Amino acid sequence: MATPTLEKTDEAPSAADHLVTVTFRIRRFNPEEGPEAVWQDFELRIDPKERVLDALHQIKWELDGTLTFRRSCAHGICGSDAMRINGRNRLACKTLIKDIADLSDGQATKPITVEPIKGMTVLKDLIVDMEPFFQAYRDVMPFLITEGNEPTRERLQSAADRERFDDTTKCILCAACTSSCPVFWNDGQYFGPAAIVNAHRFIFDSRDEGGEQRLEILNDRDGVWRCRTTFNCTDACPRGIEVTKAIQEVKKALITRRF
Ligand code: SF4
Ligand code: FES
Repeated sequence: MATPTLEKTDEAPSAADHLVTVTFRIRRFNPEEGPEAVWQDFELRIDPKERVLDALHQIKWELDGTLTFRRSCAHGICGSDAMRINGRNRLACKTLIKDIADLSDGQATKPITVEPIKGMTVLKDLIVDMEPFFQAYRDVMPFLITEGNEPTRERLQSAADRERFDDTTKCILCAACTSSCPVFWNDGQYFGPAAIVNAHRFIFDSRDEGGEQRLEILNDRDGVWRCRTTFNCTDACPRGIEVTKAIQEVKKALITRRF
């Protein structure tokens, strides 16, 4: 198959000087066309300061409208565009081409590969079925649980108590951590790092009274003890959350019952 190519010919030569030639090698899958995924190359002339998401937009809008991927905010907030870029989980909207392309003489020496995150059923191209991921999230009850002592004013909390779960409040549910976990690849029944991070966020909240319930849920055979501390999750998290540390804190809370 010929590689679709997009040249920005309508720009003045000086305006296009900064553009580079990059091949994007994208894992395509269409269940209506066959059971196998195939790689397809697209060659772009693009500003290296643009993001991988901009390249995907350019391909979809100008070369192949059938290319399918999720995105919403385009600014690292909604968590919908986690994908495997050059073999590593990243958000397409937070990944600059210049940071991952090996550029020489105005072109990338190697294609940039883009494929769906691993361990989840691929529905089409870069879109995976996120429902099992969100079911695990729902299972840990990611909301404040209190025993009927409704406050008449806000529930007060010291700065030190707030600090205990500050890191895990940053989660955007992108699934980059869970889909980089070898335990999850081998057995999708494992709750996975993201669900544990979101349990941590409430277990260590001094205003919450559902910690014991959540710990029992994570004491399950598919729970927190499946973690093998590979740190893949921490490396993958685009929010810089210390995911492995949070999992370790939940394990410790299960042993000591102090949280
Ligand atoms: S912990 Fe990080 S990688 Fe995992 S879902 Fe949350 S934001 Fe994404
Ligand atoms: S599109 Fe929302 S995080 Fe990337």
